[in-house]
Amino acid sequence: MTRRLRVVGIGMGPQHVTPEAAAAIASVDYVLAFGKSEDDPLLEVRREVCRRHGDPPVVVVADPPRERAESVVHDQAAYDDAVRGWHDERAAAYHAAIDQHPGDLALLVWGDPSLYDSTLRIVDDLVRRGLELDVDVVPGISSLQLLAARHRIVLHEVGGPVHVTSGRRLREAIAAGQRNVVAMLNRSLDLAGLDDWAIWWGANLGAPGEELAAGRVADVRGEIALARERARAVDGWVMDLFLIRAPGGGAA
Ligand SMILES: C[S@@+](CC[C@H](N)C(=O)[O-])C[C@H]1O[C@@H](n2cnc3c(N)ncnc32)[C@H](O)[C@@H]1O
Repeated sequence: MTRRLRVVGIGMGPQHVTPEAAAAIASVDYVLAFGKSEDDPLLEVRREVCRRHGDPPVVVVADPPRERAESVVHDQAAYDDAVRGWHDERAAAYHAAIDQHPGDLALLVWGDPSLYDSTLRIVDDLVRRGLELDVDVVPGISSLQLLAARHRIVLHEVGGPVHVTSGRRLREAIAAGQRNVVAMLNRSLDLAGLDDWAIWWGANLGAPGEELAAGRVADVRGEIALARERARAVDGWVMDLFLIRAPGGGAA
């Protein structure tokens, strides 16, 4: 029997849940979520969102560990393999949980499902594995939108492009001539050689430990390093992203 699977973007927490997302959450029999541990702070945010919107039970599945060795992070083929393997294990874990729990369900995605999130790929995998699912997606407010809002900026210059990438591919983007770049998924901040670029940075946006900094890279690099640790101290986790723009503007 076909059941409904709703992929719902929840923004950066309960304050960003749109009426459409709230209605979707309230409509399901349960929410399925990965947890790194029982006290995983991002799992707690999902539970709070559920409590506020119909209170569906949250079925927690242990998140399979992911290979993050330095050798893998710096080798694109090994990295792609590791991510693919992790997605497979996550899909298998969800498949087993869905088999055990009848009814319609929702997967709550941090931010928006379209941006650096594997949920929709895992859902495709579940369909390939033979689950009969009627899938829909409800968008959420992404960290990218929140960064722009907090700094009161447009992400690009008039009619210009913005390149969105991961921290590990930032150097590659700049070497390829990108001059207006957003970097997400930053393990650390490597801004060497970019002293005169402008940066708009934010960490833990929407959380109590939120931190912001903006200016010339050389002027704010130290401030950002300290702010990153403050965010981690307040929330127990840190996620950050930034826009950097070449001197003279983002046009090539
Ligand atoms: C796995 S991606 C998920 C992105 C998410 N789907 C979105 O729409 O923003 C996680 C990355 O998003 C960014 N991010 C997510 N939440 C954030 C927050 N509250 N503050 C700053 N950056 C955040 C960071 O770059 C983090 O490494």
